[in-house]
Amino acid sequence: MAERSKFSGQLGFVLAAAGSAVGLGNIWRFPYLAAKYGGGIFLLVYLILVVTFGFTVMIAEVAIGRKTGLSPVDAFRKLHKRFAFIGVLGSFSAFIILSYYNVIGGWVLKYLVSFMTGAHTATAQEGFFDAYIGGAFEPIIWQTIFVVATLAVILGGVKKGIERVSKVLMPVLVLLSIAIAIYSCTLPGAMEGVKYYLLPNFQDFSATTVLAAMGQMFYSMSLAMGIMITYGSYLRKEDDLEKAVGQIEIFDTGVAFLAGLMIIPAVFAAGGRETAVNAGPSLMFVTLPGVFEKMGGGGIMSAIVGSAFFLLVLLAALTSAISLMEAVVATICDRFAIKRRTAAIGIAVAVFLLGIPSSLGFGPLSFIKVLGLSILDLFDFITNAVLMPITALLTCLFVGWVIKPKTIVEEVKLSSRFRREKLFCIVVKYIAPIFIVLILISSVLDMLGIAKI
Ligand code: PHE
Repeated sequence: MAERSKFSGQLGFVLAAAGSAVGLGNIWRFPYLAAKYGGGIFLLVYLILVVTFGFTVMIAEVAIGRKTGLSPVDAFRKLHKRFAFIGVLGSFSAFIILSYYNVIGGWVLKYLVSFMTGAHTATAQEGFFDAYIGGAFEPIIWQTIFVVATLAVILGGVKKGIERVSKVLMPVLVLLSIAIAIYSCTLPGAMEGVKYYLLPNFQDFSATTVLAAMGQMFYSMSLAMGIMITYGSYLRKEDDLEKAVGQIEIFDTGVAFLAGLMIIPAVFAAGGRETAVNAGPSLMFVTLPGVFEKMGGGGIMSAIVGSAFFLLVLLAALTSAISLMEAVVATICDRFAIKRRTAAIGIAVAVFLLGIPSSLGFGPLSFIKVLGLSILDLFDFITNAVLMPITALLTCLFVGWVIKPKTIVEEVKLSSRFRREKLFCIVVKYIAPIFIVLILISSVLDMLGIAKI
C-alpha cells in the first residue's frame, strides 16, 4: 500500500480541522441559538462545555486517528474488531449530512452572487427565500456547483488540496469576521444587542439552555462523524495533540462568538430584541438581508456588507463540506482498495443525488413530511439529534470502558504532556455518557412532541 498522505505539519492540521469545525453551524446556528436561549448565559454554558466535553471527545477522536493511522471504520476495527460499527455510524452520518449541507451551500452561493451582482434587493423582499428554495431547478444548479467545488479540493489530495485551501481560506475568514463584527457593533442602536449577547442573565438559565448548547457544541466541533479520526490519521507522531485540539477549540469558538457579534447587534439595531429572538433558522436568509437593506448608502453598503458576509459563510461551508467528503472518501478507500479518484467522484455523485430530494422537499416534494419535518430537516434531525449523540456516546463508552482511557493518554503523551489528563479520564468514563444520554432522550421526546424540558 502506498504511504498514507500526511499534513505537512501541525499548522496544516489545525487549519484543516478548524476549517471543518467552522461552518454553517457557527455562523448560522450559533447566533440564533444564542439569541433564543438567553444571550450571555448561553455563551457561558457553551464555553464551559467546549473546554470539558468538547475537548474530551475531540482529543479521543484525534488520538484514535493518529494511533491507528486509519479512517473511522478501520480505526475502530483495529482497536477492537467488534466495534467497527461505531466507525460505520460516524461515516454514515457524514454522508447524510454532506447530502443536505450541499443544498444549503447552494443557497449561500445564490445569495452571494445576488449581493455581488447588485440583485440583492430582491433577497430582502418578503417571501423571497421561501419562493427561492421552493423552486425545482435553480437551487439544484447552485447545489451542483457547490458539490463540484468540494470535489475539486478532495481530488487535489490531503496536502495539495485540503491543507492548501484551508491555509488560505481560514485566515481570510477570520479577517472578514472581525471586520464585519466591528462594523455591525458600530451601527446606531447596536449596543443593546451587544449587551444582550454578552451579559449573562441568570434568569434565562434552564435545562434546555444546557441541552441546546451541548447539541450545538458537538455539531460545531465536527465530532462523532469520523472527521477528527480521519484528519488525525494524517497527523505525524511528533505533533502535539493537546495543543492542536486547544487551538481548534479557540478557532471554532472564536468564530462562533464573532458571528454572534456580527449578527445580533445588527439585528437589534434594525428590529430590536423581538426580531432577534424570534428569527430562528430564518435569521441568516431572511432577517439579515432585510437588515443589510436598511444600511443606507443607496444600496451600496448593503451590497458590500452582504457580499462580504455571504462570502464568509460560503468559505466556512466549503471547508466543512470538504472534511465531510474526505471522511467518507477515506473510509471507502481504506476499506475497499479503490483508487482515491474513483471513490471521490463516486461519492460526489451519490451525495449530489441524495441531496436532490432535500432540495425538492421545499418545493415539488413539499407534500412529504415525516414527523412534521421536510426532507432536509428530517435528515438534519436524524443525524444531529439521533446519530450524532449515539456515536458520541458509543465513542466515550468504547474509550472509557473497552480500550480504557490510558490507550488515548499514552498516544497523547507520545509527543507532549497531557495537562487535562485527569479531566479527560473522568469526563470520558462517567460525565459525558450520562449527559449524552440526557440530550438524546430530550431531543427525541421534544421531537415527538411528548415533553419539553
Ligand atoms: N462543524 C460544522 C459547522 O459548524 C458542521 C459539520 C458537522 C461539519 C459535522 C462536518 C461534520 O457547521
